[in-house]
Amino acid sequence: MTDQSNQTKAQKAQKINGVRGMNDLLPADAAQWAHLEQVLRDLTRAYGYEFLRTPIVEATAVFQRGIGEVTDIVEKEMYSFEDRLNGEQLTLRPEGTAALVRSVIENNLLYEAPKRLWYTGPMFRHERPQRGRYRQFHQFGIEALGFAGPDIDVEIILMGQRLWDELGLIGVRLEINSLGQAHERAEHRTALVTYFEKHQAQLDEDSQRRLLSNPLRILDTKNPEMQRLIEGAPKLLDFLGDESLQHFNAVQALLKANNIPCKINPRLVRGLDYYNLTVFEWITDELGAQGTIAGGGRYDPLIERMGGKAAPACGWAMGMERVLELMKVSNSLPAPLAQCDVYVLHQGGETLTTAMIIAERLRSAGIDTILFCPPDGDSASFKSQMKKADSSGAAFAVIIGPDELARNEAQLKDLRASGEQKAVPLDGLLEAVMEAIVGAPE
Ligand code: HAM
Repeated sequence: MTDQSNQTKAQKAQKINGVRGMNDLLPADAAQWAHLEQVLRDLTRAYGYEFLRTPIVEATAVFQRGIGEVTDIVEKEMYSFEDRLNGEQLTLRPEGTAALVRSVIENNLLYEAPKRLWYTGPMFRHERPQRGRYRQFHQFGIEALGFAGPDIDVEIILMGQRLWDELGLIGVRLEINSLGQAHERAEHRTALVTYFEKHQAQLDEDSQRRLLSNPLRILDTKNPEMQRLIEGAPKLLDFLGDESLQHFNAVQALLKANNIPCKINPRLVRGLDYYNLTVFEWITDELGAQGTIAGGGRYDPLIERMGGKAAPACGWAMGMERVLELMKVSNSLPAPLAQCDVYVLHQGGETLTTAMIIAERLRSAGIDTILFCPPDGDSASFKSQMKKADSSGAAFAVIIGPDELARNEAQLKDLRASGEQKAVPLDGLLEAVMEAIVGAPE
């Protein structure tokens, strides 16, 4: 053997793993995702939201400008790279909102009327992976663009509540806050800076830096040693003017009228810079440190900031992995789906030819059918095929052996309810299977 072919062999043998924090969706979990996606489709349809899909890659500027330069996401977590062929600065989207707004502006979607939109797909953030926190994760999000009133803030919150009920989630609570308008935040910011400057010695390194760039984000610190200091800091809610307060009060009144309990959390500031007025998060204690399953709020300044004609907007997004994890804890995941309705067994040769034709005939009639295919090319015993049929979840087996074929028959076996097995003529098999499936319990 030559050196070169030895080397090729060694390269082939080396296992290549997936990227840390980026997960495969395995067949065993596919039904859960399909179930969640179906519930989301029904939910958005019930409220008149339309689907919009943006690419996974955007110009880096979309997120720098949209999310804000001084945010953890833009400063530390984005997968950004230069396109080697033309030097463009690109980024794997870390969230959906800025990209959706880019698309809405570019395609002039707000030209005639406001829009209710939704999206779903993978997002990318270079965070330290742990339970419920991944580098590739999936979001479902809704965005209502062109609506200014508190009614739409509440509509999107009602959608969330309906979704948690639909999915059978336990222990989810809603926290809300108002971030007011830019000039109110500016006054609060001045008061905040004065307060933190007075207590500068107690600020950690991150907060020292944020004191100059984005002091509001200091309130978001997870550092337990700073919690006392944060408790005593001036609260933004005390700086809100009449209009902002009116909006916030109207949101609370509408939530109350709809029996949606919520807690006002004056320290809820969110990690993205585009918000104003209402912000909110749904949180659970059931998932450990990563307990925020969804979050969002109003982002009236964003469309103009991204180069569009000024228009109000609000929305939220949820982490699909976290919601599925909470469904698991809540015991509300659906049972795994059967792979097929019918499993067809045979003994190779002529019986295979007939079995294949029959399997196609069943599929044409809308019956999900798996035809046994021996992994090594040789036919296997009926006993081992029957085991496979059983674990496929099929309700019925069609068995075609040489004896059956000689009589122009197949055996139809009920794999679930009765276990009954009977001979059926091949030309009446489709009808017999249909009849058995219709009569079988779910
Ligand atoms: P966000 O709070 O950054 O908001 O993310 C929304 C949700 O995505 C979080 O509540 C969490 O469930 C999930 N999530 C975030 N990072 C990860 C991660 N590394 N692994 C797993 N799940 C994660 C936004 O992205 C805004 N675009 C929401 C929005 C829409 N605001 C207005 N409209």
